[in-house]
Amino acid sequence: MQEHVISQILAMDPSVNPVTVSGWVRAFRSNRFIQMNDGSTLHNLQCVVNFESFDAELLKSITVGAAIKVSGPLVASQGQGQAVEIQVQTIDVLGIADPEEVKLTILSPKRHSLETLREQAHLRVRTNTFGAVMRLRSKLAFAVHQYFQNNGFNYMHTPIITASDAEGAGEMFRVSNLSAEKAPKTEQGRVDFSQDFFGKETHLTVSGQLEAETYAMGLGKVYTFGPTFRAENSNTSRHLAEFWMIEPEVAFNDLHDNMDLAEDFIKFVVRYALEHCSDDLDFLEKRLLEEDKAKPQDQRSPMPLKEKLSFVLEHNFMRVSYTEAIDILKNSKPNKKKKFKYPIEEWGADLQSEHERYLVEKHFECPVILYDYPAKIKAFYMRLNDDGKTVRAMDVLFPGIGEIVGGSQREERYDVLKDKMLAMDIDPEELYWYLDLRKFGSCVHSGFGLGFERLVQFVTGMGNIRDVIPYPRTPGNAHF
Ligand code: 4AD
Ligand code: MG
Repeated sequence: MQEHVISQILAMDPSVNPVTVSGWVRAFRSNRFIQMNDGSTLHNLQCVVNFESFDAELLKSITVGAAIKVSGPLVASQGQGQAVEIQVQTIDVLGIADPEEVKLTILSPKRHSLETLREQAHLRVRTNTFGAVMRLRSKLAFAVHQYFQNNGFNYMHTPIITASDAEGAGEMFRVSNLSAEKAPKTEQGRVDFSQDFFGKETHLTVSGQLEAETYAMGLGKVYTFGPTFRAENSNTSRHLAEFWMIEPEVAFNDLHDNMDLAEDFIKFVVRYALEHCSDDLDFLEKRLLEEDKAKPQDQRSPMPLKEKLSFVLEHNFMRVSYTEAIDILKNSKPNKKKKFKYPIEEWGADLQSEHERYLVEKHFECPVILYDYPAKIKAFYMRLNDDGKTVRAMDVLFPGIGEIVGGSQREERYDVLKDKMLAMDIDPEELYWYLDLRKFGSCVHSGFGLGFERLVQFVTGMGNIRDVIPYPRTPGNAHF
């Protein structure tokens, strides 16, 4: 018999036709009511067992966590909480789950903290919260592709192993197959990478931008969507050592086109989530309201989750120059009262997450795009403005998250780019191919990177980035 999944069954009209479905037991009450979930939806399917007609041993093995397959007619439910239920005619126990062992895991039916769930990341997707977050993550990934494919972009696969540091920040993981104990050495006593697998030192990519630029210079509009790696020792709720980044790059776009693209793109995916994931969002919204009850008033979210998402759709992102932002911050209450951990003293200061969040959450109370940053605090590839001290950079700042997007118009002038590399200690020889683009038909072009997990955090309302990726990689933690 054809099997259905629970999301389909719950949308069916009750009829006597038997349906068959497999899933995991969430609860078994009074030897009569099985709550089954198969991951297709947040909702469980109620399976009603007439225990007199089944073997007692079989019923005993239907315990929380077990995998079962049931079939029987779908009927209108007499009970509260569900429209339909299955009147079970056959049950197969596909995989048992020993209650004594289940008791020791997060599958046991009681509240477990998110920290505890993280320690059992191989099981946490069977909880309502992680089921909802991971379904949303999947839908958002699909929406990302849909947006770019609808708008004439080509999906480009940039290399994971690379010899260049795209951000020039030196936060890379080395890739090598040299023996750790007996690595060959140069005369100077350093590891001799010329004898390594690629004949040179290589790393995991921190960004596909430089390669994406080369393709934008032939395909016009491209985007990447892949894993990126950063060996930054930041133990925060917004940093991962392995995260997924989306990087569009567009020939002939200037910084303002780039801002328009970022805003339009983010709104598209947020709208997609609201339109396609309302059950999971409702659940996550309730979860947040519960969580908020335990918090002091001033730390609670200013609006419920779905309202927050709609708010983003309905408002233009505020576009503010770095210079204006510094003025606002310098004169802000927390700065004057020395409440910032990093006080803002003068133009040129790098903005910390506390400053970004002040601008978004307290001052403007809406998403903000900051642009024209000091050249000194940004990467080498950004287009220098005529003032000689700022670059055409932009960061999109979101409530609760801070920076969600970082991007820029790229320096398209050969000499200016080369000088900048030299000034920032980046070897132009190593990046000759990147400089070549500026020799053969160079043009204005722009792009940005959006951290996918930060987007998932925003849409699901999850406070910690470790809870929106299946297996988080953070300093000191590559378990599973
Ligand atoms: O601002 P970033 O470093 O920009 C770049 O990598 C550019 N090459 C992008 C481009 O212009 N094509 O990173 C972009 C975004 C950040 O805004 C943030 O959302 C996310 O990537 N991000 C991280 N997300 C999770 N964990 C980390 N350690 C992250 N570092 C950056
Ligand atoms: Mg950035």
